[in-house]
Amino acid sequence: MSNLNGKVAVVTGGNSGIGYETAKKYKALGADVVIIGRSEDKVSQAAQELGATGLVADVLSVAAIEEAAATVKDTFGKVDILFVNAGVFFGTPIGQTPEDMFDQQVGINFKGAVFTIEKFLPLIAEGGSIVGLSSVLAYSGMANAAIYSASKAALNAYIRAATTELAERKIRVNIVNPGPISTPIYGKTGMPEEQLNGFAEAMQNRIPLKTFGTPEDVANLVVFVTSEEGKFINGAEFNVDGGMNVNPVLVG
Ligand SMILES: NC(=O)c1ccc[n+]([C@@H]2O[C@H](COP(=O)([O-])OP(=O)(O)OC[C@H]3O[C@@H](n4cnc5c(N)ncnc54)[C@H](OP(=O)(O)O)[C@@H]3O)[C@@H](O)[C@H]2O)c1
Repeated sequence: MSNLNGKVAVVTGGNSGIGYETAKKYKALGADVVIIGRSEDKVSQAAQELGATGLVADVLSVAAIEEAAATVKDTFGKVDILFVNAGVFFGTPIGQTPEDMFDQQVGINFKGAVFTIEKFLPLIAEGGSIVGLSSVLAYSGMANAAIYSASKAALNAYIRAATTELAERKIRVNIVNPGPISTPIYGKTGMPEEQLNGFAEAMQNRIPLKTFGTPEDVANLVVFVTSEEGKFINGAEFNVDGGMNVNPVLVG
């Protein structure tokens, strides 16, 4: 793949999981990498490991996103790649959705993603590229995932419209929808370990390839889409899910 020397890549949620692995690949290709996360300790440790610039911003706060964008502007003057990846997953049955859980999930996965794009947009150079990290759950009706699914479906709708509007500035916008990927996100749901294991096994059985993906599986795709080699890919959605999106009635 072409090198990214002279390019600036910003990765939200870059201290963990899919974001961390993607930031690592951008760095290996020669980009200046900025990771954004909400915990000072985690961000500074990851930034050190990656050789990246680490910025602390909770994307629930539009002011914090604005501040991060201002710092990137002062330090690098522009952004070439924006990977809008920060997100959370909390499950809850319909009829029992706690208001604060709704606010967190929609606030981070949808509002946070939207305002990351809005506030970084003035910095994105012509020929720049944005990827929104969504989920196959944007299109499926998994039990206990209604709010998460809605937050990701809303992001996809916003990004589709952004594709049309931003083409004028030659900015490409795409969506990646992962299926189950082994990352720390599941450990942050608050589910007891036994329940988590049962949930993971049930999901794995729905995947034709019968395995979870790795953060690297997603990072490879994101890096390709945002690279020079992906220069005609615009307004596309890619599932990276081991075949789960075909919704098999039976899995062999
Ligand atoms: N893993 C999967 O199976 C899967 C499937 C489909 C889609 N996704 C999506 O993939 C994306 C990355 O998730 P992951 O699986 O790599 O999980 P992860 O390892 O938990 O990474 C999520 C990242 O987002 C950060 N983040 C969460 N809330 C934030 C906030 N308010 N402000 C700033 N940063 C915040 C996290 O920070 P902390 O480290 O402080 O929590 C972490 O760096 C998410 O959007 C998720 O919805 C994941």
